[in-house]
Amino acid sequence: MAAESGIARRLEPVRRLRGKVSLPGDKSISHRMAMLAAIAEGETFIEGYSESADCGATLDCLRRLGVRLQVTDSGVHIRGAGKTGLQPSPVMLDAANSGTTIRVLAGILAGQPFETSITGDASLRRRPMRRIIEPLRQMGASVSATDDNLAPLTIRGGALRGITYEPPVASAQVKSCLLLAGLFAEGETTVLEPVPTRDHTERLLRAFGVSVTCRGAARTVSGHSRLQSPGRLRAPGDFSAAAFWLAAGLMVESAELVLEDVGLNPTRTGLLTVLREAGCAIEVVNERLVGGEPIGDLQVNASTLRPSRPLRLAGALTANAIDEVPILAVLGAAFHGAEVSDAGELRVKESDRLALIVRNLRAMGVEVEERADGLTVPGGQRFRGASIETAGDHRIAMAFAVAALVADGPTTLDDAGCVGVSFPNFFTVLEQLRGQGPG
Ligand code: S3P
Repeated sequence: MAAESGIARRLEPVRRLRGKVSLPGDKSISHRMAMLAAIAEGETFIEGYSESADCGATLDCLRRLGVRLQVTDSGVHIRGAGKTGLQPSPVMLDAANSGTTIRVLAGILAGQPFETSITGDASLRRRPMRRIIEPLRQMGASVSATDDNLAPLTIRGGALRGITYEPPVASAQVKSCLLLAGLFAEGETTVLEPVPTRDHTERLLRAFGVSVTCRGAARTVSGHSRLQSPGRLRAPGDFSAAAFWLAAGLMVESAELVLEDVGLNPTRTGLLTVLREAGCAIEVVNERLVGGEPIGDLQVNASTLRPSRPLRLAGALTANAIDEVPILAVLGAAFHGAEVSDAGELRVKESDRLALIVRNLRAMGVEVEERADGLTVPGGQRFRGASIETAGDHRIAMAFAVAALVADGPTTLDDAGCVGVSFPNFFTVLEQLRGQGPG
């Protein structure tokens, strides 16, 4: 990722975008596949493993814990260490920018009879960790942190006991952390989800032979579970990466885009629901199940119905579109407005995303109202070319790169390299799509 990090990039508006988009493998699923493969019996080959810097950080941490793995052009090969085979790391682990790496891996570290320290970059070291520290302590792990909340974390695990826990925030990272710690605990561990969040951990645990019971809001695993590698796994295309091209396809005057093999797990596709409720119908074809996850191909072209009403995201649906809010706000401005609520969590993502969306929309001459837990964007607005402050946040950079495609005049991103956190080829894809046909 570092290649372009901190380097500004100028983007010109485009009149057309054409072609097939090749997406990175799903980031959330890739992290989990690697972590489960590391503590399973047997060898796992993961095809389509995300080439993102975040998922690279997970592999680096696993290597430091003694896991033997090999990254090739076709995928990642992991030799499972089994539940008791991880080794103490000689150095502090580095999760870089990745919240999923530090929070989910912490669940596994809490099950180890040795001490591990894990940190991250400046952005990650500002993000709240009490949400996992508190329940891991209840399970019997010893966890210390800066101000009892921030990375670096030092975790000494061992004899854990199962608990029933209702996280105060809707978070798939917290749920996953506790379910993985639960694999090492005496008895059963139950997470009561305040609202349903992405369920990739539950699906993958089953693929590794672990029984996960889902009763109402409760997700339960047993500490006696053993993980057996399914052999081969395939990560679908990342819906959260696809979202930027869906938006570009809807906004650019003449666009014809096909997004193949996109993960369509309903706990991730809140943006499609919001678009559909606003009268916009993205065509989904070739729907199928791959490795327990629904996938399909998405198409946007001239005949796709555009939104004809405001985009509304609130309540339980917000968790299913939490990473898509920056691009949803951009879409709202271009079409009939957007109203986002119950999204206070965005203030503690890779940046304060609500504040940055607002600041950058205003820089582009777009009117927006900011609230503590959301925002309101009136529709029918034009974007003016501007200087965009990304704060090193990949999703802010990509959302405003898409806005730049339909702006009056050129736009500059202050840091284009940060897209590597989730989508290293983002600008290469853009060049390919704009290069097909006269621009
Ligand atoms: C993720 C869960 C979400 C999401 C993040 C990835 C995951 O965070 O925003 O990009 O892989 O579990 P929270 O679970 O903290 O909401």
